Amino acid sequence: MTAPLRRVTPVVRVAPAKLNLTLAIVGRRPDGFHLLHSVIAALDLADRLTLDPAFGPADLLHVVGAGSSPAPDVGPEQENLVLRAIAAARMAIRAAGDDRPLPALAVRLEKRIPVAAGLGGGSSDAVAALNGALEAWGVADLLDAGTQMTVAASLGSDCPFFVRGGWAAVEGRGEHVRPVRRPRGGPLGVVLVTPAVAVPTRAAFERYDAGVRPEGAAALASSTHLVTELQAGLSTTLFLERAGVLAFANDLAPAAADLVPDLTRARRALSRLLDRPVGQSGSGPTLWALSASKADAVGDAAIIRAALADGLIAFPGDRPPFVAAAALAGVP
Ligand code: C5P
Repeated sequence: MTAPLRRVTPVVRVAPAKLNLTLAIVGRRPDGFHLLHSVIAALDLADRLTLDPAFGPADLLHVVGAGSSPAPDVGPEQENLVLRAIAAARMAIRAAGDDRPLPALAVRLEKRIPVAAGLGGGSSDAVAALNGALEAWGVADLLDAGTQMTVAASLGSDCPFFVRGGWAAVEGRGEHVRPVRRPRGGPLGVVLVTPAVAVPTRAAFERYDAGVRPEGAAALASSTHLVTELQAGLSTTLFLERAGVLAFANDLAPAAADLVPDLTRARRALSRLLDRPVGQSGSGPTLWALSASKADAVGDAAIIRAALADGLIAFPGDRPPFVAAAALAGVP
């Protein structure tokens, strides 16, 4: 007698974006992946996934834009991390010794996080899909936290961070995630500007390997120092005073600038417009400016939109950039 098919309980998951406050490259592994030291914070900007039973044998993915925006191009379906995460969840459950068939899932992914932007959207979607699939099948308790982390790490370098979220110091290829204390007060705000040019992470690391990189190890010094200060208990005021240092603590910034002509010019113009340091998240091209609150970030976003409308500032890409205010994860 064949084992009964498991039932599917519909599940909704929120998949937050992340912001790299620092990103230092400290070495390269024999397999080509780079060793990192990065302080990362989760944002309240998030994609939304709903998982339902599929009316057929195969998992399905339907991507929609937020509100009335068109669906963004998330790449070929078979390479999509959401479907790969569900396949990985199925394999992990089988490896855990449970061979009852796990029904196909239909995922609706509402994208708000820009794609290939340095905000971790694809990785976050994957973790939400992994976690959501286990929940939908009612098998989450069959995989311990360590195994779920290993499965997440197999999907992408940013995925282990999203298993926990919050604020973390991330090392190794991305698999060593250590929670750090969040600045006291807050939550802090950030305005994000993502020029309409995708920067594939791999391409940025390749430019770095080709020698397009900063000299010295300033980013690593800033990154480790930030962790020490956060762990000692940093106020949001003092944290914001570090913004000028953090804005230059990204070893992939020269690579992104090399891949996206005019990114440096746009970054300087944005810094002048807001009269504040502007940094880059991950491999870019997303630019960020920190502020004391989300309300302040909303004001910054309005200033940027007005400057764009008046032609006072321009960003690379054949469309206007994505501009959004967000909050960094606050003290829980
Ligand atoms: O792990 P993920 O699929 O997100 O990485 C995309 C690409 O970025 C990898 O194929 C690799 O070329 C590069 N990468 C790297 N070192 C890391 C993370 C990513 O070289 N720590």
